[in-house]
Amino acid sequence: MSTSTAPTGKPAKAASPAKRERVFSGIAPSGTPTLGNYIGAIRHWAAEQDIYDNIFCVVDLHAITVPQDPAELRFNTRQLYALLIAAGLDPARSSIFVQSHMHEHTELTWVLDCITPTGWLNRMTQFKVKAGEDRELASAGLYTYPVLMAADILLYQTDGVPVGEDQKQHVELARDVANSFNNRFGETFVEPRPIIREVGARIMSLDDPSKKMSKSGSDNSYIALIDEPAAIRKKIARATTDSERTIVFDENRPAIFNLLTIYQALTGQSQQAIEAEFAGKGYKEFKAALADIVVATLEPVQQRYKALMDDPASLDALMAEGAAKVRPLAQATLRTVLEKVGLR
Ligand code: AMP
Ligand code: TRP
Repeated sequence: MSTSTAPTGKPAKAASPAKRERVFSGIAPSGTPTLGNYIGAIRHWAAEQDIYDNIFCVVDLHAITVPQDPAELRFNTRQLYALLIAAGLDPARSSIFVQSHMHEHTELTWVLDCITPTGWLNRMTQFKVKAGEDRELASAGLYTYPVLMAADILLYQTDGVPVGEDQKQHVELARDVANSFNNRFGETFVEPRPIIREVGARIMSLDDPSKKMSKSGSDNSYIALIDEPAAIRKKIARATTDSERTIVFDENRPAIFNLLTIYQALTGQSQQAIEAEFAGKGYKEFKAALADIVVATLEPVQQRYKALMDDPASLDALMAEGAAKVRPLAQATLRTVLEKVGLR
């Protein structure tokens, strides 16, 4: 993206919407969002809203590739949507919508399914992990999950997709699918690229720092964005440390390193400043300071979240507006695709 001069020769306006790159981010409503989701993804999305033309999508269709309880899925989708807005995604600046509210995603998926070689899907490493021991029992939806993801991305002529390493392969597949369609039917899709965050802090489990913090871990292993202050303090107080005493960023001491990483992510201070602040102090004191920071970060998020969840009609309206904002583009892309393939 260039901010120097516009093609007219006039100086480009800073962050002119027409010039900004389009970025699509998806997050699945498959449980309660954690501090790991916030530090690793959501807060960056919020911070980058003026850099990119952003589309954020709660991918409920991806969630059902593995079994979900219907009532829980319904709740989790609303909860995640409300939390994204509470955590700073701004419906005025970004488009924020629920995937299943836009039938264009499933329609495009079918067309893309029919041009994607099964050999490409067989190479997807996430399927192998998620399918588990008995691959024959995994759903066909889990197998074609990357094609639905490609449809999400391609429907909006997306330039970039911010993802972690684990999703890079899926974005590359989307690129290959776009390229293959373009070659066969003529220029139709922008070919997207993955945007991999360089300093992506990976937050680890509080009771086992060898595992990623995840809602699928034990109750004390993660901090949920909606945890009460007392629960947050208790979980941090109980977090695993080690038998040493110093509070320093040492990757060979993963438990304390992880707590320090959380502290650094939420305060924005340098490692040196943090080490200096806690030099000569004990784990108990550090943990209390960390708990204060986490509580203070989440408190305003939780207040906004509660206000949104207490007003279901307004939340419904926000969801409908989000879908309405992206609909013209999705419809235009889908119409072109159907025509090119001979379905219209
Ligand atoms: P997931 O909940 O695994 O679908 O992840 C949603 C987003 O949150 C992705 O961008 C992940 O990279 C990010 N994320 C999830 N867990 C963590 C974690 N423990 N640390 C950092 N980022 C995470
Ligand atoms: N598969 C992504 C994940 O597990 C979620 C996702 C679905 C997504 N569709 C997307 C991410 C489109 C980026 C773009 O994290």
